[in-house]
Amino acid sequence: MKIVPDGVYVDCTFGGGGHSKAILEKLNQNGKLIVFDQDDDAKQNVPNDPRIIFVPHNFRHLQRFLKLHNIKSVDGVLADLGVSSHQFDEADRGFSIRYDAELDMRMDQRQTLTAFTVVNTYSESQLHKIFEQYGEVTNAKTLAKTIVEVRNNSSLKSIDAFKNALRGVVKGNPNRYFAQVFQALRIEVNDELGALKEMLQQIPSILKPGGRAAIITFHSLEDRLVKNFFRHETFDETEGDPFTMTEKINQLKVITKKPIEPSEKEMKQNKRARSSKLRVAEKLVALAKDKR
Ligand SMILES: C[S@@+](CC[C@H](N)C(=O)[O-])C[C@H]1O[C@@H](n2cnc3c(N)ncnc32)[C@H](O)[C@@H]1O
Repeated sequence: MKIVPDGVYVDCTFGGGGHSKAILEKLNQNGKLIVFDQDDDAKQNVPNDPRIIFVPHNFRHLQRFLKLHNIKSVDGVLADLGVSSHQFDEADRGFSIRYDAELDMRMDQRQTLTAFTVVNTYSESQLHKIFEQYGEVTNAKTLAKTIVEVRNNSSLKSIDAFKNALRGVVKGNPNRYFAQVFQALRIEVNDELGALKEMLQQIPSILKPGGRAAIITFHSLEDRLVKNFFRHETFDETEGDPFTMTEKINQLKVITKKPIEPSEKEMKQNKRARSSKLRVAEKLVALAKDKR
């Protein structure tokens, strides 16, 4: 991230505060760090440090909260997407297939939509789409149909009830299968892709020239969004079409042509880093337009 000691940085996903701690170590007394986390549990990890401001909200409101704190632009933005180890390991949160708990999966416990609502009220076609697109579940159609049949007889309230009712449709390794199913539900409950898109779209305007954005993703859906946005600064595919394109000047330069992935050693130390990919972009100092 090329931390400038008196710079202003944002950690969009504070969690246990590991990355924030590393940033704070590089900042001097004039540096500032704004940290976001929509999970109230993260608050307890915030260090007592006058340089840090905790924002207990979704990072999709990045610019709005920066403005609220009188910050117009920043030297760097970091996001380490998805669920924290704390959220996975806390049985009651309902993120893990290892424990029995209510089907919850909310990162932000103020929101009303839970995995229970998704499983028990979404239509068969909505469920099919979620499992196919967000979980890449091979038999998403059969899974959706079975859920709708089963829930007519009893509500699928707990993780065990859900897993037991669906034993018959599992394809391949049950742990892997349910991990994909849970990933799909979690992405839907937390609108993870929607929030990521909104956050990415704010990056070009909040970064100072020379400032960097570093995003760590954990699955291909997220990685594709980051990769494409860093390259084209849009999610609108027609904008790249030479027939419809008006000249568009990108503000970001891709620093990582290929994503940075963990080494064998890191994966051994931290299994959860396994599927991570880090991509970095930098805001151009002089835009092509200015150079002409
Ligand atoms: C993978 S963990 C981050 C761990 C952190 N980097 C650390 O060093 O401990 C992701 C954290 O980001 C939060 N989070 C995920 N999506 C978010 C969003 N859209 N807005 C705010 N916080 C979010 C989660 O609640 C979780 O605590």
